[in-house]
Order: sequence, then C-alpha cells, then structure tokens
Amino acid sequence: METYCHTPVLLQEVISGLNPQPGQNFIDGTVGGGGHALAILQATAPNGRLLAFDRDQGALSAARENLAQFGNRVIFIHDSYSNLANYVECNKFFPVSGILFDLGLSSAQLDDGNRGFSFKNIGPLDLRFNINTGSSAAELLNDESESELTRIFKEYGEEPQAGKLARTIVAERRLHPFQTTTDLLAVVEKVKGSGRRSINPATLVWQALRIAVNSELQELAEGLKSAVQVLQAGGRFAVISFHSGEDRIVKDFFRRESKNCLCPSLAPVCRCYHQAALKLITRKPVVATTSELNKNSRARSAKLRLVQKI
Ligand SMILES: C[S@@+](CC[C@H](N)C(=O)[O-])C[C@H]1O[C@@H](n2cnc3c(N)ncnc32)[C@H](O)[C@@H]1O
Repeated sequence: METYCHTPVLLQEVISGLNPQPGQNFIDGTVGGGGHALAILQATAPNGRLLAFDRDQGALSAARENLAQFGNRVIFIHDSYSNLANYVECNKFFPVSGILFDLGLSSAQLDDGNRGFSFKNIGPLDLRFNINTGSSAAELLNDESESELTRIFKEYGEEPQAGKLARTIVAERRLHPFQTTTDLLAVVEKVKGSGRRSINPATLVWQALRIAVNSELQELAEGLKSAVQVLQAGGRFAVISFHSGEDRIVKDFFRRESKNCLCPSLAPVCRCYHQAALKLITRKPVVATTSELNKNSRARSAKLRLVQKI
C-alpha cells in the first residue's frame, strides 16, 4: 500500500475538548489515516474501544494498518457516518463517551491522481469518496441540466459565475463529453481565466462538485442528528469543518439543539416544547494557531466546534 500522508488538524484542541479517558468508547466518523483516532486510542487505553467510519475503502485500509497495534479495540466500518446509529446498535457499542467528525478530504485523497480530487493532477474526474456508489463528477457534468449545474456551483461553491459556467459546460459536452480533470479545468479557465489570485478559480468549482457528488451536506445533516442520538449524557461531540457551507450547518444545528424553546420571540407561551439536548462548549469556532498553520496549510480553513450532551 502507498504511504497514506495526512497530518491531523487541531489535534491538541480536539483531544483536550473530547477529553478521552481510560476505558471509554469513542466514535471517529471520518477516520481517514487514523491520526486523531491514534491519539484517542492512546488516551482510552487499555480497553477503550473505537468505532471508526470512512466512506473511502483506501482510507479505511490505511487506518487499519496505522491502528493495527490496537487490535480488536477498533471496529472499522466502510460506510457513511450518517448511518452510525445502526452500527452502534448492532455492535452494542454503548455507552458512547465522545464522537469526532473531521469533515472533507485528506491530503492522501487530494494527492491521488486517480480520484480527481485535485485540479492539479491529471486524471479521471471522479471525486467520489466511495467509488462503488453513485455517479462520478464526469457523469454529473455530462448528464445534469444546466439549471441543476448552476445550482450546484452557486450553492456549494458560492461561485459568482455559476450560470455562465454551467452554460459553457453544457455547450462543451455536446462536442466532447467530460472525462478528465483537464477537460473541466479548460472550461474553468475559459470562463474565469487562470489569473494569479490567492485562491485558484478552480478551487470553488471542485469544492462544489465534490459536495454534490458525495451529497456531503445532506450526509452531514443526518450525521449530526445520529451522533447526538447515540451520545451518552455528558459525552462530547467535536466537528471540524473546512468551508462556510459545512460550518453553517454545524453551527445552526448546535445552536438549535442547545435551546429549550424554538418558538418565535414574540410568542407569549412556548408551544413547541423543544428540549435542549446539547450544551455549547465553544461559542466561537476554534481555529489553528500560527504555529500549526506554519506546519500544515490544510489547517488554514479548519473550524472546530464542540458540544456536550445534556
Ligand atoms: C479530513 S479526512 C480525516 C482525517 C483523519 N481525522 C486523520 O486524522 O487522519 C476526512 C475523511 O472523511 C471521509 N469522509 C468524508 N465524508 C464521509 C462520510 N459521510 N462518512 C464517513 N467518512 C467520510 C473521507 O473519505 C476522508 O477519509
């Protein structure tokens, strides 16, 4: 197996926030190369267990190898964290003391030219975490309507030229169906230029496609609910997000679930009977220190939010 290269972000902050103790059970919803998982397993030694999820079979194999020393303390699951409640139930994985979601993708995925996650590598335009399910990014570009493509670029990439980009893609695919990263990069450069900007214009286009291909925001919304459902009282839940769309979903969900009533402020009495399930531990997201940023540029956009189950 190739080396799986990924430095965990906000590691100290995650560990001090989740506060894992010997013998406790944790869930890592996005185990990746197992960097955060390793620290959790060390802290929960000698017999704490970890339920480790990843949608990417390659990431899961890397985690299996990197965490081999912990033997049957780790249960690996090739599925989305949105299904975690089912696995907690069927593995009788109770009580759950803490959960981590470290969203997005790893450096190893970004560097893998066969997946299309980076416009810097020439290769097939796939972008699926799980290559066995759903449609690839190329299929999406070749099959979706112009209005759906516009929506994807606007909503998931906040792309100011979403309409023009979608129109150009639809015209281009009549001549040559999209297959590779180079095909899409050529269209992005045609519409937006390749200009010397701090963020490459292709970055947000790729982000939007990846979110759409993997239904990332829907998965996140489901995953947040499932995590809160299985967490024991007093248990902690940490989520690291990497772009504003993700962070908004996490922030709104945590705020909502930390309120006792969701009635409009002018309502004379509460009629919703909503009960808070969470206490906010971080009111503002935790971001990387300068020292971490100097070592790991991936930490630049990372935002950590933390809650505790009531
Ligand atoms: C940023 S990496 C995690 C890195 C990991 N914390 C570490 O320290 O090595 C994110 C991982 O989440 C996985 N992933 C993305 N969406 C997922 C989902 N809905 N369910 C499970 N895994 C997911 C990706 O395949 C990727 O391996």
